[in-house]
Amino acid sequence: MAFNFRKTIGIDLGTDTTRIYLKGTGIVVNEPSIIAFNNRTNRTIAVGLDAKRMLARTPTHITALRPISHGVIADFDMARELLERFLRREHLPWSWLTRAIVSVPTNLTEVERKSVEDLLREVGASEVFLIEQPLAGALGSHLDIQQATAYLLVDLGAGATDMAVISMNGIVISRRLKIAGDYLNQEIIRATRDELKLHIGEPTAEEIKLAVGTAAPVAGERLEIVIRGRDLTSGLPREVPVRDVQVRTWLVRPLKVITEALKDLIESTPPELVGDVYKNGVHCCGGGSLLRGIDAIIEKEIGVAVSIVEEPLTCVVRGTGMVCEQFDQFESLLNNFSVMPGLHLR
Ligand SMILES: Nc1ncnc2c1ncn2[C@@H]1O[C@H](COP(=O)(O)OP(=O)(O)OP(=O)(O)O)[C@@H](O)[C@H]1O
Ligand SMILES: [Mg+2]
Repeated sequence: MAFNFRKTIGIDLGTDTTRIYLKGTGIVVNEPSIIAFNNRTNRTIAVGLDAKRMLARTPTHITALRPISHGVIADFDMARELLERFLRREHLPWSWLTRAIVSVPTNLTEVERKSVEDLLREVGASEVFLIEQPLAGALGSHLDIQQATAYLLVDLGAGATDMAVISMNGIVISRRLKIAGDYLNQEIIRATRDELKLHIGEPTAEEIKLAVGTAAPVAGERLEIVIRGRDLTSGLPREVPVRDVQVRTWLVRPLKVITEALKDLIESTPPELVGDVYKNGVHCCGGGSLLRGIDAIIEKEIGVAVSIVEEPLTCVVRGTGMVCEQFDQFESLLNNFSVMPGLHLR
């Protein structure tokens, strides 16, 4: 019997969710990028879903945190612990033969990229390859990016909105905004405080967004949810109904920032490629693309057809998975970064 010790894994280390693909198997981890640890003993208590349940409900000696912020490693030690736990739990035997393909946001600095490489090496990978998230997302969405035509992909994540024009296996131009799903939740928290005089936490804001959040009205649909929070004046618990129309007004401003950035990106795109984008449409992925009516408002603002890719939450990790499976075919997409003006270090 022949043993194959070589492991190839694809990783999407997201602000909200960590996803891991194992070559030959598929997605093996798809869990919140959250780690809970005990400050007294300095021990990790839980990661992923278990840790998420503790978020915002922890006693003082327990801290639950997200080590990835806006798609970038914010707490290196905690990120390493998180990844190590996920890998160990999946019995992924790390060895000097392990190859990791990791998706990273566009326009990272050299230092930020190095930090991702170091992280993977510290958890045991012998070879680390980085792929820019829009390229991985486009691959995972089965866009034929090798062709001499251009695609515009918008990844609406939790910590960042990444938008990029892709052509012939490369990113022609891209923008990254820190306005994404988490920011929408913060706007919901702010508005319930200012308008409804109710104090709510992040999990409730997320619940509101998922249940009644809309970017544009959806025909024949009227949504309502009853939420609980702390009354700002009395300090006591109170229940309040929240309707889709209300939430829509709360989300107008951040969504406008996103569509304006998209317009700006299109204005900076070479004219031939704009023609391609018009023909091919705009493709949206990431959890934020599941917000009802997001396609309608983008379409209205920029006048180009918008589609949501299939399985928008996992397209990036599935893209890294495709690289795992057919490494030779996609090798040219790896470690192939667009250099920002002024950041040319060599
Ligand atoms: N049905 C939905 N409607 C609106 N937002 C949603 C929906 N489902 C998920 N989201 C939001 O999508 C975000 C998570 O998306 P995703 O998993 O793509 O992020 P991520 O990859 O972890 O983050 P990033 O790419 O920014 O690092 C969260 O902010 C979540 O609230
Ligand atoms: Mg993401």
